[in-house]
Amino acid sequence: MDAMTPSQMTLVAFLQAQNCSNLVASWRHPDTQPGYGTPAYYQHIAKTLERGKFQMAFFDDRLAMPDRYGDDHVETVENGVRAVKLDPISVLTAMGLATERLGLGATYSTTYYEPFHVARVFATLDLLTQGRVAWNVVTSLNNSEASNFGAQEHLAHDLRYERADEFLEVVQGHWDTWQEGALIEDRASGRFADGSKVRRLDHEGKWFRSRGPFTVPRSAQGHPVLIQAGQSGRGSEFAARWGELVFVIYPNVQVARKSYAEFKAKVEAHGRDPRKVKVAPAVYVVAGESRAEAEDKKAAIDALVKPVDGLALLSEVLNFDFATKKPDDPFTDEELQSISGLRAILDRVVTQSGKARPTLADFLHHSGRGTTRELMTFVGSKTDVADQMEDWFKSGACDGFVLAATSMPGSYEEFVNLVVPELQRRGVFHRDYEGATLRDNLGLARPNAGDWKHLYR
Ligand SMILES: Cc1cc2nc3c(=O)[nH]c(=O)nc-3n(C[C@H](O)[C@H](O)[C@H](O)COP(=O)(O)O)c2cc1C
Repeated sequence: MDAMTPSQMTLVAFLQAQNCSNLVASWRHPDTQPGYGTPAYYQHIAKTLERGKFQMAFFDDRLAMPDRYGDDHVETVENGVRAVKLDPISVLTAMGLATERLGLGATYSTTYYEPFHVARVFATLDLLTQGRVAWNVVTSLNNSEASNFGAQEHLAHDLRYERADEFLEVVQGHWDTWQEGALIEDRASGRFADGSKVRRLDHEGKWFRSRGPFTVPRSAQGHPVLIQAGQSGRGSEFAARWGELVFVIYPNVQVARKSYAEFKAKVEAHGRDPRKVKVAPAVYVVAGESRAEAEDKKAAIDALVKPVDGLALLSEVLNFDFATKKPDDPFTDEELQSISGLRAILDRVVTQSGKARPTLADFLHHSGRGTTRELMTFVGSKTDVADQMEDWFKSGACDGFVLAATSMPGSYEEFVNLVVPELQRRGVFHRDYEGATLRDNLGLARPNAGDWKHLYR
């Protein structure tokens, strides 16, 4: 097996347990396979990714349908705009059963779940898969999610992160409950575990009370890997404190280099080793045998996008009803201030349109929501795609990529068949897994109980 070196990139698949990929139009694509409601569908993707030595399959999550647009769900359901959303942990379990090395990541919300529950769900899967699990810590986005959990309105942005900080302290505390060597399991003496090495947490804070002891022993990798994708000032501080793998959206390589360096400096300011925090931008890849074939494929997928895709997704992600606006009416200052959710999109629209008060049409165009323009897109032959990925990776723009799909599972099959061997040939992607756990394959150390207390302050 190759030793993992910093000169090799991390590859993660950006998956959705839903009726389409991250790109809504993908479900209308003739190459997309039916079966998002079956284990076989996800197990096929998992095996394809493991064949391509991907470090991880990762699922996003939302706790509501995109129904902010027109304050109604009918358009969403009619058009299949992420109308289905399955619980990602159940899906990951199915994928874990079909693979041996592939890392398994899922998103769970700190705003709507309880820390004991989240700690237990992820620790259980981490134990069952012998240390292959990661949790993407999110604070969620909008009022539709709030409504499903008995609240009228989504908690304010910075309060969500305050709650999330305490949530992580509780989760990490529970994950530390079973110290190394606590398990004895000696039938002859009848001693199951060393009582002095298992403890209660007794947490009492502003947001949570949780006693313990936790009921799941430590896994082969200590505890699950933490993923984070905060992008705002507060969000990226949170990511710098807790994240081990950090997802970002970078619009181009120049911005990427600058933002990457700034983020790594924040990690260092938290007393952590920046090399041990991997940064991976989300990208689409459309690869073909030739550049012309890849461009044709991309044109075919772009032709399947409907305007409602962008409108429903913008309303969802910005927590603002875009049905209240006409295409060319500028937003008022009050309306712009009321936009919550992912404000980085608002910043991007203002910058790129050059307008302090953009219109709905500006939002659709410059956010690229619902289209491949939303993310950096690498299109071309295996050489074209590998050139771009290598350039980003080697020029200090990222440590790897989170690859979104335009058709399922076709995008991953074409990437694994065409681009992975090319990246391996160039020595920028590993040829085999370095070890059995996700931490081994991400080049992350196995944490000792309590490490997070002095490291992450
Ligand atoms: C690749 C990627 C995946 C994300 N997945 C989710 C997700 O599954 N659920 C969610 O609520 N937010 C998700 N987010 C949003 C982030 O958690 C975060 O809220 C967002 O980037 C805005 O940053 P902020 O919270 O600092 O304002 C994702 C972001 C990125 C870049």
